[in-house]
Amino acid sequence: MTGAFGALGLAVARRFAGRGVRLGLLGREPVPASVRQEFGLPHVLSGGVDLSVQQAADAAMRAVAAATGGFQALVNVAGGFRWETLAEGDVSTWELMFAMNLKTAVVASKAALPHLIAAGGGRIVNIGAGAAARAAAGMGAYAASKAGVERLTEALAAELRDRNVTVNAILPGTIDTSANRAAMPDADVTRWVDPEAVADVVVFLASDAARAVTGAAVRVFGRG
Ligand SMILES: NC(=O)c1ccc[n+]([C@@H]2O[C@H](COP(=O)([O-])OP(=O)(O)OC[C@H]3O[C@@H](n4cnc5c(N)ncnc54)[C@H](OP(=O)(O)O)[C@@H]3O)[C@@H](O)[C@H]2O)c1
Repeated sequence: MTGAFGALGLAVARRFAGRGVRLGLLGREPVPASVRQEFGLPHVLSGGVDLSVQQAADAAMRAVAAATGGFQALVNVAGGFRWETLAEGDVSTWELMFAMNLKTAVVASKAALPHLIAAGGGRIVNIGAGAAARAAAGMGAYAASKAGVERLTEALAAELRDRNVTVNAILPGTIDTSANRAAMPDADVTRWVDPEAVADVVVFLASDAARAVTGAAVRVFGRG
């Protein structure tokens, strides 16, 4: 899983670990001590992996495969958000959003693909965003990059249909994270979706029960 040390990533990791799944957790920052403590063996932890660099992703996936004997699922959680209008902002924000949200999923998927195929098939679950369906003011770069995640999901699902690899996207509404609470102190958090609820849908799409689902984009909004 990419973006594994972030808010949603940790919720997803806990859900999988609770089901006895052995995890490869990748993050851009060094592995936080708390994560090292919570996810000891048999999980594989890898920090300092910048998914804008294909060779870094390839090496990280090879290391996870070597340590685990192969893996059957990739969950692309890595991403980020910026609010900025075009007039007041900078073109670099568009590049940043595409790098964080779309390129990470492209690079990690390309790196994981040989391992999924070697395993005889598997699952890719991407995290898009409900906000990509129609962009509000200041949301152009983010929404465009997350719309790209949906198009990637569709194309990859078609490309891998005969390789026994399913590819789906989850489109969360606003997730109830501490970062969102700090950024939007006056918001009605009861309209937000819990990270655990999003994680449950990730776990389903990664499971055998979802073997017939591919190329789907699932809105997960809670009461939002
Ligand atoms: N929070 C929400 O309300 C919400 C709503 C809809 C969709 N989403 C999506 O859900 C996912 C998780 O969100 P979150 O709230 O858990 O965010 P988060 O806590 O910021 O976690 C995202 C993680 O992705 C990592 N990342 C970004 N660019 C990377 C790169 N180039 N290489 C490797 N790692 C990279 C970040 O690392 P750094 O800390 O080093 O940047 C961070 O650890 C994101 O894709 C986000 O867009 C979130």
